[in-house]
Amino acid sequence: MCGIIGYTGYREAVPIIQTGLGRLAYRGYDSAGIAVCANGEIACRRAHGKLENLIDKMARDPIAGSTGIGHTRWATHGRPSESNAHPHCYGRFAIVHNGIIENFMQLRAELKERGHVFSSETDTEIIAHLIQEEYDKKRDFITAVRCALHLVRGSYALVVICADAPEQIVAARNQSPLILAKGENETFATSDITAVLAYTRQFTFLEDGDIALLTPNEIAIYDAHNRPVQRPTKTVQWDVAAAEKQGYPHYMLKEIEEQPQKITDTLRGRILEDEVSINLDDAIDELHLENASSIQIVACGTSYHAGLVAKFYFEKFARIPTRVDVASEYRYADPILSPCDAFIAISQSGETADTYACVKLARRAGAKILAICNVIDSTIPRASDATFYTRADPEIGVASTKAFTTQLVSLLLLAIHLGRTRATLPEDEARRALHALRTLPKLMEDTLARAQDIPKAAQKLLRANSFLYLGRNTLYPIASEGALKLKELTYIHAEAYPAGEMKHGPIALIDDRLPVIVIAPQNATYEKTLSNLQEVKARGGRIFSIVSQGDDAVARISEHAFTIPTCDETVQPLLCVLHLQLLAYHIANMLGNDVDQPRNLAKSVTVE
Ligand code: G6P
Repeated sequence: MCGIIGYTGYREAVPIIQTGLGRLAYRGYDSAGIAVCANGEIACRRAHGKLENLIDKMARDPIAGSTGIGHTRWATHGRPSESNAHPHCYGRFAIVHNGIIENFMQLRAELKERGHVFSSETDTEIIAHLIQEEYDKKRDFITAVRCALHLVRGSYALVVICADAPEQIVAARNQSPLILAKGENETFATSDITAVLAYTRQFTFLEDGDIALLTPNEIAIYDAHNRPVQRPTKTVQWDVAAAEKQGYPHYMLKEIEEQPQKITDTLRGRILEDEVSINLDDAIDELHLENASSIQIVACGTSYHAGLVAKFYFEKFARIPTRVDVASEYRYADPILSPCDAFIAISQSGETADTYACVKLARRAGAKILAICNVIDSTIPRASDATFYTRADPEIGVASTKAFTTQLVSLLLLAIHLGRTRATLPEDEARRALHALRTLPKLMEDTLARAQDIPKAAQKLLRANSFLYLGRNTLYPIASEGALKLKELTYIHAEAYPAGEMKHGPIALIDDRLPVIVIAPQNATYEKTLSNLQEVKARGGRIFSIVSQGDDAVARISEHAFTIPTCDETVQPLLCVLHLQLLAYHIANMLGNDVDQPRNLAKSVTVE
């Protein structure tokens, strides 16, 4: 998520905005910028890279004014660069934006036809042009912003300044957080409380569709129907450390809880209005992956588990034989790969050394290379033919959570798209799968709400020395991911097995000291898994299960059963994994471990 701060008041805006942006830097960003109203004009400075670059630039070439806006950018449209950095200035306006404008291609084309020239690759810049066009007609600041926003579809937290209104800020929100704050003779608009906590503790949270006019002494808010509204003001007691985590004790818990919103972001604009077609970037379409004779996936860690689930999606929906390998193995395996094959590298960071080495190998083999990645323009996307960006925003917890579920959603969209293009997936089935995806954020919220008992179960598991995780089909990689989360966070050994394979070895381990975590929602293999569990039960094993709501049989033989709502089988992995993330989190927390930075682990492994 990009960081936003706007200020109007009696002081110099620049130092306040610089300090505020510094407070937001912990989340990661690729460029930054500040604009102020100065002597009837807009003055703006932007810099690629660290905030220090911007501060140095402003020291050499200062700007001043008592109304201004600032931004730290995390790229979504257009590579990280100075020209893509915010604020975007056009005519009498400067704007900062967080979110995604879905119809920006169309709006940009229309604006170009009317003679507009663009200086960036961003979706944001079109908003500045639209505001200026409306202002030319209406000559009123807030009206111009409101009319421009009627033309855009998508999510935004938007803060605007106008050279003709040097003591005003307009702020608007739709599906991206935006908070207003009032001090003594000064007001603020910000994406995060942290940025302005040093100046005030009184915050007003805008709602979707709201637009506000801020002056040093007043905040006036209007709802989507342009009616004046009062939004409740809250006094926040958090210190800066708590505010950075938005009140959560750890980044990891925050990142687990924000998964429904991140999935919404991943899906935004990618399912078309006919509810059966999928919109991918042109570069992905041009790869014609539908003609591939096989798909080779490589990745590491959690991203590898996403690949293992995706194999089921590609084979089921697109009927393309798919192989998944750990990158560190693949690169030395003398693999068979040809120009007829599609090669998919999955990486949250886009910097993992082993995965990158495999991309170079695929390049030499002439395969078509697609990256599934979270970080725009990182090394792996730059080395690939096209990239599907997951839009999870920066992930700070070392143990990956939201990056994983957004990877799964991205891969599932791609598999459905290939299935439709290859005519291996009937329209009604595609519709059903996409409906499941569209309802996924709600289903995830429902699942998270059902997880209240996890701390109770975690308490009972603190003294275990080893865990066995079981699942079948798509849920076996989810069992592996659950075991990985447990190892990473709690330092307790855990192993995942396909449930049906248990009888070929691990069954010898079963006794009352080995907790068995089984993923057994209602699906085609439910009965089979139930039989495996009877074998565990008969040997005195302790069962902790994830089941569908209303389940009786597995729940009855479980010490604890966590439920997921009734849903299409396709999205079950995305719900079951939430319970496993939370289980590992709570056990680790109770053991007193550093949940966000587990020992010996790194977020981005850039060495072999
Ligand atoms: C490290 C991280 C894991 C991550 C893996 C792959 O081990 O700790 O969370 O899954 O690298 O990283 P990538 O950025 O390539 O997905």
